[in-house]
Amino acid sequence: MNNKKSNKNKQVTKAIIPAAGLGTRFLPLTKAQPKEMLPVVNKPTIQWVIEEAIDAGIKDIAIITGDHKQSIENHFRPFKKLEKALEESGKLEELDKIRKVNSLANLKFIIQHEQKGLGHAILCAKEFIGDNPFAVLLGDTICTGSPNCTKGLARVFEEREASVFAVEKIKLEDTRRYGVISGNQVEDQIMLVDKLVEKPEPEDAPSLLGIQGRYIFTPDLLVHQEKTNKGAGGEIQLTDAMQSLARESKLYSWTFTGNRYDIGTMKDWFQSHLELSIASEFSPIIKEVLKKL
Ligand code: UTP
Repeated sequence: MNNKKSNKNKQVTKAIIPAAGLGTRFLPLTKAQPKEMLPVVNKPTIQWVIEEAIDAGIKDIAIITGDHKQSIENHFRPFKKLEKALEESGKLEELDKIRKVNSLANLKFIIQHEQKGLGHAILCAKEFIGDNPFAVLLGDTICTGSPNCTKGLARVFEEREASVFAVEKIKLEDTRRYGVISGNQVEDQIMLVDKLVEKPEPEDAPSLLGIQGRYIFTPDLLVHQEKTNKGAGGEIQLTDAMQSLARESKLYSWTFTGNRYDIGTMKDWFQSHLELSIASEFSPIIKEVLKKL
């Protein structure tokens, strides 16, 4: 394998944000409105995710989207008619706000025509990745914490020169919702991973550490992903490609201690809105609302 070549570039400047799923867990809310576009405080979920990548020093971002999810691209593309109307009516603050969203990063939109799973979504960005290391941030998952999750992973990646992903402690009854891993502790918060199982039954889970939705990979991952057949749920799973990678190369997990919100669940969506509102400029408004409950 071209390990030496792929690890040469330690700086992570590219990210993939998979956002093409059908959102079946959150219907009917996500029938016409992509889960990744659900607002949290004052911006869509996927904007929080993009801002995390930017804060981690990533400039080139590929969003994997579906032909049913045009609104994602619309949110980040210039809307000339609206800009003209704002300019003509002197609404310059609003104009500035939407122009900032248009120029957040160097965004590329790639269509995944068939929803064959997360692993398949990543393969759609093969050309974009080339021979570079890359981050993956799930488009329906907001992470908060300091350092931000992707930044924390980038540090481990630079130090260890190997692929690394974030995990969190999960409950036994929740193993069916996660990729679950095991390995050997090599440092506080860091494990050398040897086993990864996607959505195991509680009795088959190798530990109570669940894959949490943020990753940094050497480009070798794609070679393993291309060889991966359908797995759990009949989908092409990223976790299976990671298991294959772990057999040939070092693969680390990093236990993230910040908050993670899966915007595919009602509980996390509500919780993110409340907690992130309280931490924002809108804190007085939300506190006033809460007082009345
Ligand atoms: P999820 O499994 O949580 O999303 O994938 P989903 O498939 O949309 O949701 P459910 O399970 O049917 O409710 C995590 C992320 O990966 C993307 C999703 O859009 C989500 O942001 N994804 C998933 C893809 O881009 N393509 C896929 O084929 C599957």
